[in-house]
Parts: sequence; C-alpha cells; structure tokens
Amino acid sequence: MNVYRYGCIGAGGIAIHKHLKGYDALDNVEVVAICDVSEIALENIKEQYPNINTYNNHKEMFEKENLDIVSVCTPNKFHKEYTIDALEAGINVHCEKPIAMNEQEAVDMVEVKNRTGKHLMLGLNNRFTNEASFIRQYIKDGNLGDIYYVRCGWRRRRTIPKIGGWFTDKNLSGGGPLIDLGVHFIDLTLHFMDYPNPVSVSASTYKKFANSHCKNLHLPKGIGDYDYNIEDLANGFIRLDNDVTISFEFSFAMNNEKEEYFYELFGDKGGVSFKNGQLKIFTEINDTVVDIIPNTKYPTADLNEFTHFIEVIEGKTTCLSIPEDGIKMMKIIDATYESATKKKEVSF
Ligand SMILES: NC(=O)c1ccc[n+]([C@@H]2O[C@H](COP(=O)([O-])OP(=O)(O)OC[C@H]3O[C@@H](n4cnc5c(N)ncnc54)[C@H](O)[C@@H]3O)[C@@H](O)[C@H]2O)c1
Repeated sequence: MNVYRYGCIGAGGIAIHKHLKGYDALDNVEVVAICDVSEIALENIKEQYPNINTYNNHKEMFEKENLDIVSVCTPNKFHKEYTIDALEAGINVHCEKPIAMNEQEAVDMVEVKNRTGKHLMLGLNNRFTNEASFIRQYIKDGNLGDIYYVRCGWRRRRTIPKIGGWFTDKNLSGGGPLIDLGVHFIDLTLHFMDYPNPVSVSASTYKKFANSHCKNLHLPKGIGDYDYNIEDLANGFIRLDNDVTISFEFSFAMNNEKEEYFYELFGDKGGVSFKNGQLKIFTEINDTVVDIIPNTKYPTADLNEFTHFIEVIEGKTTCLSIPEDGIKMMKIIDATYESATKKKEVSF
C-alpha cells in the first residue's frame, strides 16, 4: 500500500473541520505538515496534531517535506499562487472553492496542471453527497426529460462570515455570497447537466448591511474601521448554451423569513427540488402526478472526497470535481459582477 505524505496550506476553519480530519482518517495518508502565516493558527493545530511540522513559508514546507498531496485552504486570493507553486513542485493539489478570484486565474492554474501532469481537484464537497450522486444519475437516466429551467439560491438572513475579516474584503475574497455560496449551488446545477457553457448573465448585487448597527450581525467594535466592500445579496439570470436558464439568489444577510438553501431543476418529464437538505421529485406515473421522497440516508456514507482524490491520483477513477469546471464557474461569477456594475446583461 502506498502511503501518501500530506500537507495543508491555511490552518483555519475548513482546514481543521474538513481537510485535516478527512485525510487523517485515511490509513494510506500521513498528515505531516501545515503552513500558515498566523502563529496562533499553527499553535492551535499543534494542540490537535502534536506530531505535525509547522511552517510560515509554503516553499520551505515543499522543500523539506516531500509531499504527495497538499490542500489549499487559505483565503481565495492565495489559491492561485499556492496551487501553482505546489503543482510546479510536483505535488497534487486539493484546492478549496472557489478555485480562484476570477476566470483568468483559473485558466492559469489549469494550464500549470496540464503542463506538470499533476492532479488538481476542487473542494466542492456538495458534489460528493448522496443527494447529488442520486440526482446526477437520475438526470443522466433521462428521468427529468428535457431540463429547461433551474432555480438555486442560499438566502442567509444574518450570517455574514467573519465580518471585518477576509470574507468581507473583496481584495481577499473576490466577493460576497455569490463567490462564497453561489459557487456551491450554481456549480451543482451545472454539474448535473454536464456543465453547459454560459451564454449570458444579467445580475444585480446589493450592499445594504455594511453600515448596519443591527446587533444580530455581531459587528465588531469600531464599525467602519475595516473593509466591507462585498455584496450582501446577489441575484441574477444565466442563459446557457443548452437553452436552459438559471435564476439565482445568494445572500449573507437580508430581511427574509429564515435561512434557506435550495436548488430546483425543472424538466418536461419531472422536477427535482432540494431545499434545506430535503430532496423531492415531482413527476407523473400512469397519468397521475406523484411526489417522491428519495431516502438518501442509504448508502449510509456519502462518497468520500478524500478517498476519491487518492483514487484519482492512483488512476483508478476520473476526478468528480475538475478545475476546468471552475473556469466556467468563474466566467459566470466575473460576468455577474460585471453585469451588476454596468447594470446590463453581459454576453459571451
Ligand atoms: N467547501 C466549503 O464548504 C467551504 C467552507 C468554508 C470555507 N471554504 C473555503 O476554504 C478557504 C478558507 O476558508 P476558512 O473558512 O478556512 O477561512 P479561515 O479564515 O478560517 O482560515 C484561513 C486561514 O488561512 C490563513 N492565511 C491567511 N492568509 C494566508 C497566507 N497568505 N498564507 C497562508 N495562510 C494564510 C489564515 O491565517 C487562516 O488560518 C476559503 O477559500 C473558503 O472559501 C470552503
């Protein structure tokens, strides 16, 4: 059995709760090193993984640790640089979403992936759930017929992540709920349809909570002392080259009834709805309309993202979360922000 040497760049929330935990649970992976610019973050990791080697510089980590796999779990601004440096150093990369800050960065990353022959997988964990696996196959089998309309969104009422930190600074994040949440659910609906190309995007973004004194936002003291230059709501309309249209809404904060996340795909034979974790199918059997509730507790375990990447590296399977899809996703995100700024539709 091959044992893979694993390292991580970025020692924050997603590194701890997803990547380190996920890889540490595998028998054929040894979690050996972590890199972060924050000493506090590294000390925190040391408490949980006493044998891990810590670094402030990713290149030093690459030189000393002979890594086979590295996760990139930093603020979005650094995804491109660390991914490219790792690929160039001969290391396979599991990069968190969004792939990058914009389409051009994603193109650059894929170019290096292709040139080096190393693997680059995106951390789109929603693709690995039982629900997503089920819907993808259900659609592939023709059960929805001709899909023509899609709705998706994630409408948070009061959950702006780390206000005053990198999430609310466009220079580090690339944007707000669109690039943070939209990359999950717009991506999923495109993934279900084998990633058609976007034709045009018409969108709006709003920034209404930057100067709010609402206590529920848990604003830090000294409001106004930090950058909050992202949108808190993005909504829009995408046309695809398979004649499907997507209507979307993503918010970190808005005065809605409660948080909701959802996607719906409508075809001429059936429809699929996933709302707040509940999957439903609407179709007809023998001229009777029926609602079906798939029991997605079985199989009991979702497809494991980490095992999957190892199998990709070993050539046993094709990658479920390829960076080429990230290029198309970023094209939509770029066009959304451009359309919102210009207040008109952007066509490709
Ligand atoms: N897949 C998901 O559902 C999901 C969920 C949350 C976050 N994410 C993604 O994971 C990434 C990290 O998010 P997070 O929630 O862990 O953020 P976080 O703020 O909790 O952690 C980021 C870490 O990166 C470190 N860092 C900052 N600049 C750095 C640099 N230049 N070099 C090295 N380290 C640096 C910080 O010190 C911090 O420890 C983001 O891209 C985010 O979009 C994905």
